[in-house]
Amino acid sequence: MTTTETPYLLRNEPDELRRLEEQAAALAPATRTILRLAGIRPGMRVLDLGTGAGDVAFEVADLVGPEGSVVGIDSSARALAWAAGRTEARGLTNVSFVHADLHDVRLTGPFDAVVGRLVLLYTPEPARVLRRFAGLVRPGGVVVAMEYEMSAAGMLPSTRFGEQVAHWITEAFERSGLDPLLGARLEAVFGAAGLAPAVVLGLQSYRQPGDPTGARMATGILRTLEPVLVRTGTATPEELGLDTLEQRFHRHQTDLELVFRLPTLVGAWTTIGQSRDH
Ligand SMILES: C[S@@+](CC[C@H](N)C(=O)[O-])C[C@H]1O[C@@H](n2cnc3c(N)ncnc32)[C@H](O)[C@@H]1O
Repeated sequence: MTTTETPYLLRNEPDELRRLEEQAAALAPATRTILRLAGIRPGMRVLDLGTGAGDVAFEVADLVGPEGSVVGIDSSARALAWAAGRTEARGLTNVSFVHADLHDVRLTGPFDAVVGRLVLLYTPEPARVLRRFAGLVRPGGVVVAMEYEMSAAGMLPSTRFGEQVAHWITEAFERSGLDPLLGARLEAVFGAAGLAPAVVLGLQSYRQPGDPTGARMATGILRTLEPVLVRTGTATPEELGLDTLEQRFHRHQTDLELVFRLPTLVGAWTTIGQSRDH
């Protein structure tokens, strides 16, 4: 495998892979909804870009069934070893993985669909990646991208503490040159790739007071992002207080009876061969 692009911001340490699994559980209903609406069906042969711990590949495997198959691509050998272990534990025989960078992998198509969740964000030119993989999809097949619109995340009603935590997260992405609003811009990315997104739809999840999801998600991503936040002078380790952040976040949400709104998961999909002025 050759890698010519900038290193992946979130690395893929074991703690980060566990965080991906937890995040995937929170995103599962939205992900399944988007994949179904986009037309992922039994029997399809599907490519999953930036498969990470394998969660999207597993959702797809469930939808395509034993007659279909999924190939997950990732540039991280550690992530793929993790995903392969989970595949075996689930007894799935229709999921396989390719260790490669999205910018130079050579694959033999055609595929019935290409999907990717939270991966275009990490590529310097998302439209270039999308165009490349859309070229592997047969006419009538689908291209599906799912990305965050991060500004939606926070407490309802809004609090200074909630805004501070959300600010640290979006700031870390921005200071790394990554677009926290990419989900909201997917239609433009599809257009720049020469594709016509038939639908761009954001799905929102709300977690009630007492639900630990928000505290775990916010603390998990900040733990991964701490080196960026400290290096860029955005926050000190003392300000972040990661050792106690999860408890403080949970208590804050519960005591003030706040709802935690997850970042919006935006899905965009189009059918290959469809004209842009549909
Ligand atoms: C945030 S994770 C998302 C994982 C999975 N799609 C999900 O939603 O749970 C992004 C994944 O994309 C992979 N990735 C990032 N840039 C890549 C590239 N240029 N080529 C291949 N994989 C890449 C990372 O290694 C990581 O596993």
